[in-house]
Amino acid sequence: MPSALDLFPAGSQVHGQGHLVIGGCDTVELAQRFGTPLYIFDEATLREQCRSFIGEFQRHHQDAQVLYASKAFICKALARVFGEEGLGLDAVSAGEVAIARSAGFPMERVYFHGNNKLREELELALDWGVGRVVVDNEHELGLLESVAQGRGRRQAILLRISPGVDPHTHQYTTTGLVDSKFGLPLVTGQAERALAHALASPHLDVLGLHFHLGSPITEVKPYLEALERVLPFAAGMTEKYGLSLRELSPGGGFPVAYTSSTQLPPLSEYAGAIAAALGEHCSRLGLGLPRLVVEPGRAMVGRAGVALYSVGAIKDIPGVRKYVSLDGGMGDNIRPALYGSRYEAVVANRRAEGQPEVVTLCGRFCESGDILIKDVSLPPLKAGDLIAMPAAGAYQLAMASNYNASLRPAVAMVTAGEARLIRRRETFEDLMNCDLG
Ligand code: LLP
Repeated sequence: MPSALDLFPAGSQVHGQGHLVIGGCDTVELAQRFGTPLYIFDEATLREQCRSFIGEFQRHHQDAQVLYASKAFICKALARVFGEEGLGLDAVSAGEVAIARSAGFPMERVYFHGNNKLREELELALDWGVGRVVVDNEHELGLLESVAQGRGRRQAILLRISPGVDPHTHQYTTTGLVDSKFGLPLVTGQAERALAHALASPHLDVLGLHFHLGSPITEVKPYLEALERVLPFAAGMTEKYGLSLRELSPGGGFPVAYTSSTQLPPLSEYAGAIAAALGEHCSRLGLGLPRLVVEPGRAMVGRAGVALYSVGAIKDIPGVRKYVSLDGGMGDNIRPALYGSRYEAVVANRRAEGQPEVVTLCGRFCESGDILIKDVSLPPLKAGDLIAMPAAGAYQLAMASNYNASLRPAVAMVTAGEARLIRRRETFEDLMNCDLG
């Protein structure tokens, strides 16, 4: 039976007095030193995840490149880790590229995504030397062509295809359907039209095709269905317009466990099946084997991150519900409110005593929907207790806001018993930085 501890970074332990220890650091000490809410990233888990992704995909497909989808969360320290581990970066705004660039991330390993890239962003991307622009639509194709032409450049691109495959995930994070704002639909002929245009342009070097189906995808099948559509299209385009498919990206979407009851296929299954399907289709269609580019975001950082909160007010409504208020909430984790995402939590500062009870962990934001976990069984809690929520590394800080003029939490990186602040807690000055009065 998997336990909640398995959801935390690798090697997490509970010490004698019941203190949760992450990356060799006692979370009670981390809370004292840095305050709460605190986000903790375990460097060893991050690096291990990089190595297993690269290892698994290269084991099945020699020429495989792993990009970190930085929308899951980016800061300089993380960019440095991913750069050192040899990953590339999927960025969806010039802002993400700017952060990576300031950390010395190699720009040639950056793939620039987005369904409405601004002209200024494309100009910056080219000036900074990003490796690939993943073109999403025909408008962008024209824009990019003119930006590249203005700079006397030939920009390497992938075209993002919308294959029309349902990944069976939350409606808000489904992207591969025909009815989606992302990508060039295959069935309508728009993908073909854009590809013909791009191939005819002296300013664009079409290296291949990309699709992303959704996030998270808890089964392998949707990837295979999409490859089954996209590769025959590529073969047709090779014959008709002389496309040379040098790169193929099935995007990201690889899941992580948020609760101990979650059953997920192992990474090796995704890597093996995707690589095998790519190989089979290419050989059947007479295509050379392209580089396989995958873009995991959540899977790279999800488990490495932990959210640490302090308990404050407790409201017990007899016969109705017990609300336990934490010092964070929807400002640092919008996912339960936005997607109904389910999490687990543990008490991090002491051994469990007393009969567990079902409570609702809520935040401190001025919304009734500011619930982090509804109906979770925990030992009796009191003000000052520490609550740790695992699988907190992806799409929490990245989607954090200053709602209620709250301050975004501090972020610490733990490495073999050492902790350092990689992002300080915001201050009131930060809140008013752009306020001109
Ligand atoms: N590539 C593309 C083109 C994407 O749009 C995404 C995610 C990824 C890669 C990375 O997907 P991942 O490996 O992280 O599943 N905020 C939502 C997730 C939105 C994902 C958007 N695109 C959440 O909190 O669940």
